[in-house]
Amino acid sequence: MVFIVGLGGSVDPDSQSERALRAVLGAAERRGATVQAFTGAQLDLPPYHYGVHLPDGTRDYLEAVRRADGVVIASPAYHGTLSGLVKNAVDYLEELAQDERPYLSGRAVAPVAVAKGWQAAVTTLGTLRQVVHALRGWPTPIGLALNGSVTRFEADGSTPDENAGQLIGTVADQLIDFAERFRTAD
Ligand SMILES: Cc1cc2nc3c(=O)[nH]c(=O)nc-3n(C[C@H](O)[C@H](O)[C@H](O)COP(=O)(O)O)c2cc1C
Repeated sequence: MVFIVGLGGSVDPDSQSERALRAVLGAAERRGATVQAFTGAQLDLPPYHYGVHLPDGTRDYLEAVRRADGVVIASPAYHGTLSGLVKNAVDYLEELAQDERPYLSGRAVAPVAVAKGWQAAVTTLGTLRQVVHALRGWPTPIGLALNGSVTRFEADGSTPDENAGQLIGTVADQLIDFAERFRTAD
């Protein structure tokens, strides 16, 4: 069974980026994956630096990413790019630098950006892809640039936006397809 880890969202209790993350994880689950999410307060970590004391729970997060066959990274757009909270959580993946599969090597990564408008949704999606490349991961061909004034998510990750729902399904298909192929090729 494919294991997919999601990280992202904000500390806002109604975080739309967290709900978008849960939507992708839910679609992956319906396709047979097991999933685990790290969101909001769990990722509200002190700024990363070499030798940082790993706060409680951080080891679980790093261990989950280490084991993952695929990853979803969902960020709100803050001033045209990913939020400091999400970027800082990603910076903690430096702890995986010496792994047999360093950083996000060998893992498909679905990038999800949620903004109030199109411009920041698209620029944030592009930056997420660059970050994934820097971490040696494989961004899914389809990413999600979501505009909160068009697409709203309920707490369970459902959305009345049928176009967004279809894209979410495509992203989940791509994540799982890549993970299964990569495992078989190993
Ligand atoms: C500090 C800050 C900066 C933001 N900058 C932008 C921006 O540049 N463009 C945009 O469209 N939305 C911007 N937004 C709006 C958020 O991207 C939007 O509300 C998003 O849904 C927030 O995600 P969340 O609900 O997961 O917290 C900003 C919000 C905050 C708090």
